Amino acid sequence: MSTAPLWPDDDVSRVPYRVYTDPDIHAREQERIFRGPTWNFLCLEAEIPNPGDYRTSVIGDASIIVVRGRDGGIAALVNRCAHKGALVCYKPRGTVSEFTCVYHNWTYDLDGSLTGVAFRRGVRGEGGMEEGFEPGAHGLQRLRTASRNGLVFATFSDEAPDLETYIGPAMLAAMDRVFVKPVRVLGYHSQLLPSNWKLYAENTKDSYHATLLHVFHNTFGIVRFTMGGGISLSENGWHHLSFTERAADGSEREGAEAVRSLKEQYALEDPSLMEHRLELGDRITNSIQTIFPTLVVQQILNALAVRQLVPTGPEECELRWTVLGFEDDDEALEALRLKVNNLVGPAGYVSMEDGCIGGFIETATRSAPEGRSFMRMGGTAIEPAGASRVTEAAVRGFWRAWRDCMAL
Ligand SMILES: [Fe+2]
Repeated sequence: MSTAPLWPDDDVSRVPYRVYTDPDIHAREQERIFRGPTWNFLCLEAEIPNPGDYRTSVIGDASIIVVRGRDGGIAALVNRCAHKGALVCYKPRGTVSEFTCVYHNWTYDLDGSLTGVAFRRGVRGEGGMEEGFEPGAHGLQRLRTASRNGLVFATFSDEAPDLETYIGPAMLAAMDRVFVKPVRVLGYHSQLLPSNWKLYAENTKDSYHATLLHVFHNTFGIVRFTMGGGISLSENGWHHLSFTERAADGSEREGAEAVRSLKEQYALEDPSLMEHRLELGDRITNSIQTIFPTLVVQQILNALAVRQLVPTGPEECELRWTVLGFEDDDEALEALRLKVNNLVGPAGYVSMEDGCIGGFIETATRSAPEGRSFMRMGGTAIEPAGASRVTEAAVRGFWRAWRDCMAL
């Protein structure tokens, strides 16, 4: 790291470009954010319904096993054998009665406690583990774990407040709005992004770009700034919600549009792509919520999903999508969800640009580590400006969270 102070002032609207490339900053994030006082989304309870069901996930660069215990509770265990540090689970999911490391067959119970060491007492009275070996001191590292309406989170930190306090009442209400009943996983996408993870985190909090970068939005009208809606932030600015609402009379195009579509003559050949069955008790067509650091909860029409952002290196990350429906969906609704999902994912009509734009920034800022961005839409405040979504308040909130954790 250069010896110059990274961020010489308190201005979170001017982000130093070095944060997108510097390997030392990336390493510090692992320690201070991902293994620091944050709650990290891991998976859905619906993915591990029965005792012994597990799946692997990640928190920063740490591989994590999430497993349903015999008592129905959920444990998050660091996926690293206490013997030599090997991965214990190398498959993404499965059902087991115990975990066995393939290297030397050390075995662990579903709660992570060490239950067996191969050749512990040696062979024919010779060799074996040292005297006084205490299996109780050599389990898999177990993390604090909490669930909210089927979403599983964990933290490495004893200092993090409980999950509900961490998320805060306003953002909990927004999360609960989507997870009103048991969900079912409809499928997964994964995409590798050619940019630092924070550029995607910023993108999801940046409602200003929605109708500008995503021409589909402006042409076919999922999100226009003339529609109702707004932005809200958690009290500390760390988490955010941005939503768009259909007018009560069903119209979506009121008044003059701030940015006119260049393609007014265009119409979808199959308008059912944009069909929306109202199902959450309101008229919200589009709701994007972020929980710092790496969770996105998405409702775009009937396309429900969670996205987990995985920082894989200073200049790359992976975005993992889990596409959802409800357990009680009828066939027609499930078919509608799958169709509307063409809007999102790696090649989605309104999200493919998001996968690429971070790479544009990564490429262009690499040569200017001392440069800084200028994100003053809505000024420098971290509060939303009335009902306007033409603000970068939530992006500034992200940087508040990052600086709180990083102490930089
Ligand atoms: Fe976007």
